[in-house]
Amino acid sequence: MYILQERIRQEGLILSDTVLKVDTFINHQVDTALVVAIGEQLADYFRQEQITKVITIEASGIQFAMATAIALQTPFIYAKKKKSIIQDETAYRAPVYSFTKQENYEVSISRNLLDATDRVLVVDDFLATGAALIGIVDIIAQSGAHLVGVGCAIEKSFQAGRQLLEEKGVRVHSLARIKQMSPGHIEFL
Ligand code: G4P
Ligand code: NA
Ligand code: NA
Repeated sequence: MYILQERIRQEGLILSDTVLKVDTFINHQVDTALVVAIGEQLADYFRQEQITKVITIEASGIQFAMATAIALQTPFIYAKKKKSIIQDETAYRAPVYSFTKQENYEVSISRNLLDATDRVLVVDDFLATGAALIGIVDIIAQSGAHLVGVGCAIEKSFQAGRQLLEEKGVRVHSLARIKQMSPGHIEFL
């Protein structure tokens, strides 16, 4: 997606070989027109799949899931993150290890929101190590729902996320795929 790549080139702040800051248009301030366009692109890519629900993880995936769900005319669910298990005992849950925060947490979705009749598209802002997304894939498997694929705005293709998902048979589509980066330099696939 050319406009997203250009925006990353112009405003993205590459803090290291692995961390890209996009706080002026995605992760802190949000460019709503850009997010709407990203949602429409992801929806178009998966439109033939008869999707019933879009799923993301709080917090920064929410605006992309909403934009995609509006384009697909479906609801969206944001999985909740929490460190302990003081929740609905019956919820679907999966453990996640956060590489950035170096801690374990749990993602959960209430059991009444997802079942074997659902066809689900997972949407997120970043595809990085895939740790959080693998947790969501686990939850979808528990529910018996069909996972149509994973759609992300920005993929750091030099990290393991895409490969981990594809090894599980998951179809992955990202709109801006970063081959490599370092402060002052970025290369897209
Ligand atoms: P993921 O690939 O499944 O997203 O998991 P990973 O554990 O690698 O990433 C942890 C969190 O860090 C994720 O946010 C992810 O979006 C974010 N992240 C990873 N790499 C980058 C990066 O280069 N830049 C930015 N800005 N974010 C990155 P999250 O768990 O969804 O947390 P939240 O931000 O929504 O609270
Ligand atoms: Na994030
Ligand atoms: Na995210």
